[in-house]
This record gives sequence, structure tokens and C-alpha cells, in this order.
Amino acid sequence: MKDLTPDRATLEPIEIASRDEIEALQLQRMQWSLKHAYENVAMYKKRFDEKGIHPDDLKSLKDLSKFPFTMKDDLRDHYPFGMFAVPMEKIRKVHASSGTTGKATVVGYSDADCELFANMVARSLRASGVRPGQMVHNAYGYGLFTGGLGAHFGIEKLGATVVPVSGGMTPRQVTLINDFKPDAIMVTPSYMLNILDEFHAQGLDPRDSSLQVGVFGAEPWTNAMREEVESAFDMHAIDIYGLSEVIGPGVSMECVESKDGLHIWEDHFYPEVIDPDTGELLPDGELGELVFTSLTKEAFPIVRYRTRDLTRLLPGTARTMRRMEKITGRSDDMIILRGVNVFPTQIEEQLMSIKELAPHFQIELERDDRLDKMTIKVETDPSVADESVRQNAANSLAEKIKSSIGVTAVVVAGDVGSVPRSQGKAVRVVDNREK
Ligand code: DLL
Repeated sequence: MKDLTPDRATLEPIEIASRDEIEALQLQRMQWSLKHAYENVAMYKKRFDEKGIHPDDLKSLKDLSKFPFTMKDDLRDHYPFGMFAVPMEKIRKVHASSGTTGKATVVGYSDADCELFANMVARSLRASGVRPGQMVHNAYGYGLFTGGLGAHFGIEKLGATVVPVSGGMTPRQVTLINDFKPDAIMVTPSYMLNILDEFHAQGLDPRDSSLQVGVFGAEPWTNAMREEVESAFDMHAIDIYGLSEVIGPGVSMECVESKDGLHIWEDHFYPEVIDPDTGELLPDGELGELVFTSLTKEAFPIVRYRTRDLTRLLPGTARTMRRMEKITGRSDDMIILRGVNVFPTQIEEQLMSIKELAPHFQIELERDDRLDKMTIKVETDPSVADESVRQNAANSLAEKIKSSIGVTAVVVAGDVGSVPRSQGKAVRVVDNREK
């Protein structure tokens, strides 16, 4: 892999400003943002008033913890446009997340927000090693999902060439990569694995492809998966994080030179980590639920939004801005199996260590005689023909899960294609237990 460390002169000064400078800017922007939300969104006014807190009470960044949280249900309750802070004619576009349950949640962007969004993705791409003038294959889904169009405008903003492929039609993805020779790809990590399989199906060596960087996000993925993809394609695999409610992709980003967690673009998105049970603020370094407050967004300001994503805040390294550790999982995706908490990423980590198994998996939960049962569906690597090798690999995964996580799982190692494939975010858990 090539060294793609960006020239420091190409970074925005704020990315490497002093902590004092960053915090002074944050305070000034946070005061504006809280006031903007209070004065223009009825829900925020009501909530702040109920708590007896006013935007003028924010004298330091720490004071933010006195303000109320915002939850996904608040967006649903104000569906579709009830939390917009500017008149509809100022809304240039909307995005929505389908959500697995209930109504979609809708977010809106003013012209300035669209500009901010594009700038954050462009900054993220630069951190990943992509340069102006290069070509980026964008396989994030286009549509209401923020991934496709968000990445698209960021690629353009950087001054790179965007190939707007969207998700799906996997053979064509490989053809286009081969013919157009893009320098980078943006896609969910699970869909990248499908593209990898398709390279093999077409008899092509992915290491010969033009790709130097993969920008992967929208779902949790492990460092073990990074190693797998990096060695399969001989390219850098970089993590990008974001969520529609905060803006979309480009809230935080790994740097290609450090790959040590994701730098949060703190000049626009203020992070906190809280205890998910008590809502109490946790010190940096402790694992908890990530909470974001937007500092500059106009159309859809968000105050203390509970993401449900679990991580910890760490000091900056390649940039001065703080990092978040790779996401362990969402609290919604946490499986509680006979009292033990299990995240799909923990299963992924163990699976990746067994070379006879392919990196696709799905977890199925059932209830037998009032006892929960976890079945992990995996696939054997196409090179495995021997039934006993397959069985040993399955047993070995079950043992590793037992010893590292402490739960008993039935591992079923099927043939290639037996695990449902994703074209976007993978469905890792199918819960058939009665509620
Ligand atoms: O997934 C935005 C995005 C698009 C990010 C493309 C990166 C790349 P939503 O559909 O609103 O937005 O889903 C947001 O996805 O709360 C996390 O649970 C999860 N997520 C996003 N990025 C990562 C990541 C987009 N890098 C939800 N690692 C978030 C782990 C991620 N989880």
C-alpha cells in the first residue's frame, strides 16, 4: 500500500489548531446554535423552558450538560418537518432514514447546510488519502439515504471525479472498477465483501485493481475486517461515520496515516459520551453512548442527540480534534443472551480469525423452552471442499465465541451464498424470539 499521508499544508487550519482555539470557536458556535434552536423550533423552546434553562445560561462548554436530550422519537413525533428551524422555501433538500420500525425520520438542509455537508465529506476524503483530480466510485445507495448523495457532493467538492454507481448490480460494479480504474471506492463494508466475491467470480485478482483507498461506513465493522479487506485489495480501508440527524456521512473520519479511531469534526459537531442508563456525562476515555450537538447547522439544528452508538472519546492524534473509538455497536443491536451482552462486531472479530470461513455472517435468535438460542450462519471459504474441514471450522468458531464472549452459539457453516447479502447496511441480527 502506498503512503497516502496528506501534506499538512493541504489541511484546513482548524483541523490542526490548538485545543484552546477549537474550544473558543465551539463555545461561540454553541451559543448561537442553542439560541437558534430555541427561537425557531417549538419543541426546543418547550423542552428548555420545562427544564428552566435558557441558551443564555451556556457560559462554558460544560454547561451543555444542563440542556435536555433529543431522541429519535422526537423526530418521529414531529414528522415530517416539525423540527425545521427555517421556512420551507429555505429548505434545499431533505433526506430520511427508513428505520426498521415506525415512521421515517426526516431531516432538512438549507443552502449553507448543503455546503457544510459537502465540505465535511471533502475534508473526510482528504483525510482518507483521496486527492483532487482522482476518481471515486460511489457505491453508497442514492436516494433518501444520506450516504449516496452525501458522498457524491463531497467528492465533487474535493475536486475529484465521482462515478455515481449507487448500490446493487454487483457484476456491473466490478466491470466499472475494471474499466474506469477509480482510485477510491465509497461503500458499506458489507457490500465491499460482495464486490470482493464478484472479483473472484469473474476470475479477477482484486489486488490488481486500481483501488488505493476504501472509505467504509454506515454500519459497524472491525479492525479484523479492515485487515481482511486491505490485504484482499492491497488498499487502505478507512472508517467514515455519520448519521442523518447530525448531517450524514462526514461527522467523523479516520486518518489514513494513523487509522486509530475517527477524528470528530468538532468545529461543527460537538460530541459527548453519556451513561446510556442514567444519562450522566462520562469523562473522555469511558465507553458509553455518543451524543451530538450541531454547532452551525441552520435548517435542522440538533441539541444533545442520543445516537445509541457506543464508543469512547479519545484525544486527537493526526489532528487536534478528538477521536472516537471505532463503534462497538448500537445499543439497539446489542443482543442480551441469557444475561450476557453480545455485539455483532464481537462475532465478526472471531469469525475473521478463521481462514476456512468467509467473512459473511448473520445471527439468528430463537427461544426454545423459554431459553434463548443463538445460531450463527456463516459460509465456508470457497477453497474448502472437505466436509470435515468445514465442520472443524464451525466448531472452532463456536469455541472461540464461548471462550472470548462467554456465550454458547450454534454455528452453521453453509455454502457460498447461503448467508443473505446486503447491498447497503447488512442485517446482522434476525430476532425470532417472541417479544
Ligand atoms: O449511515 C450515514 C453514513 C453514510 C455514514 C455513509 C457513513 C457512510 P444513517 O442511515 O442515519 O446515516 O445511519 C446512522 O449508522 O447512528 C450508526 O449506528 C451507523 N453508522 C454510520 N457510520 C458508521 C460507522 C448513515 N462508521 C447510523 N461505524 C449511526 C459504525 C456506523 N456504525
